[in-house]
Amino acid sequence: LKCASILENRPSERGSKGNLFPLALYFIMNTAYLELNGKRYALPVLVGTQGELGVDIRDLRKNAGCVTYDPGYGNTACCRSAITFVDGQKGILRHRGYPIEWLAEHCNFLQVAQLIIYGELPNAAQYAEFDERLKACVAVHDGIFLVAQGVPCASSPMAVLSALLSALGCYHPDLSVNNREQELAQLDTLVSVLMSKVRTLAALCYRKKQGLPLIYPRPDLGYAEHFLHLFFSESSYEASPALARALDLIFLLHADHEQNCSTATLRMVGSSGSNVFACVSAAVNALWGPLHGGANVRVCQMLEAIHASGEDGSRFIEAAKSGKAPLVGFGHRVYKNYDPRAQILKKVCKTLLAQQDKADPLLEIAQYLEAKALEDPYFIERKLYPNVDFYSGILLRAIGIPLEFFPVIFAIGRMPGWIANWVELTQDDGRISRPRQIYVGQGVRS
Ligand code: SDX
Repeated sequence: LKCASILENRPSERGSKGNLFPLALYFIMNTAYLELNGKRYALPVLVGTQGELGVDIRDLRKNAGCVTYDPGYGNTACCRSAITFVDGQKGILRHRGYPIEWLAEHCNFLQVAQLIIYGELPNAAQYAEFDERLKACVAVHDGIFLVAQGVPCASSPMAVLSALLSALGCYHPDLSVNNREQELAQLDTLVSVLMSKVRTLAALCYRKKQGLPLIYPRPDLGYAEHFLHLFFSESSYEASPALARALDLIFLLHADHEQNCSTATLRMVGSSGSNVFACVSAAVNALWGPLHGGANVRVCQMLEAIHASGEDGSRFIEAAKSGKAPLVGFGHRVYKNYDPRAQILKKVCKTLLAQQDKADPLLEIAQYLEAKALEDPYFIERKLYPNVDFYSGILLRAIGIPLEFFPVIFAIGRMPGWIANWVELTQDDGRISRPRQIYVGQGVRS
């Protein structure tokens, strides 16, 4: 209910520009016309607060007897949202109006998570209360460990994380009743459980895989530092502030990104009324794919292969240009400019490696590939730039995260965005998602 109030037309501190219009009050300012079989159909046009236009085709099939065709939904808005805005042509990313560069410089992950979920940056008291709630919520029921025991050690951490998130809902039956009003009434608890325990589940996957004992929580630690403690703590391990800040920044930069594949999956599952545990579990599975959150693993594997070969990587660029294999970490459905998150990650990579007095040959190779690609007509014509996955893996290596856990870090960072989209989907027209198709199969047969 608290979050629902956020979506009312409540003047925000940022003045008229920052007001959150309720989704229901977007004004229909223009009209588009479709001519089909000699008839003309008027279609309302929605105008977003940043000027983007959307032709409203909700009545198209009823009025004109046809549907639109857009495999991959590259030109289809599935919702109206007030959480994140991306201008791919200009390389702009904002959460609730704040530019990602400003947030990365002035905030930490939990502050940005509160901004994304609740609509405003927290004041000191709100931040302290949120932080305390998460600290009190790290432990998971013993039964969750038994679920983790049941899967082979060699299992992908993303498969296990998805299963454990679903299982987590079983231990919070009041938050997974598939009754949205009842679940929203406990939003703060739901946020604490998911944001805090996703770290514990990830650490459980890692410790079990390594045959290590589980680590007891240390509520005195900050969010990212606590994650590193749960993951790595043995007698001597102490996360350096530089490592903890770098990991916190990785979480922050992954916090939300409009209707990407995993978030759109979450909305699809949530549209049937499913609870948020079911939705984030589904989102983890979508994120797992090598074209999405699994890309940072492929980037590091590519860079390691180049390093091992002693070559400069030109072979991978040629393979990308010939269509044999995409240059992983490059290109994006929305960004046709440099992904602002990649810019920040590249800088943090260099800083952290310098602070550790370490050099990573993979960073040199990545920078060489980037320079070669950005001057190559194939990439220039297609507006292919480094995306968030191109440098994130190198930074995760510097922090010591194992390769196969890179997408797990992405999932932890994306949790606030998934929760915020799950909440918001009840504020849009709230119907179950049910796309149409163009049937190309057999006609009736006797
Ligand atoms: C993420 O959506 C999000 O917001 C995602 C994300 C988030 O925060 O949630 O930003 C996170 O998933 C980042 C993307 C990570 N994936 C990769 O790095 C994998 C490599 N990238 C490509 O697979 C591709 O760029 C995609 C999947 C990211 C986007 O694919 P699209 O939008 O379907 O692009 P396309 O296939 O229409 O490409 C247009 C052209 C094609 O060439 P032509 O047919 O016009 O000749 O560009 C080419 C493509 O072949 N192309 C590439 C390429 N990406 C696109 N060619 C070589 N290398 C690449 N990486």
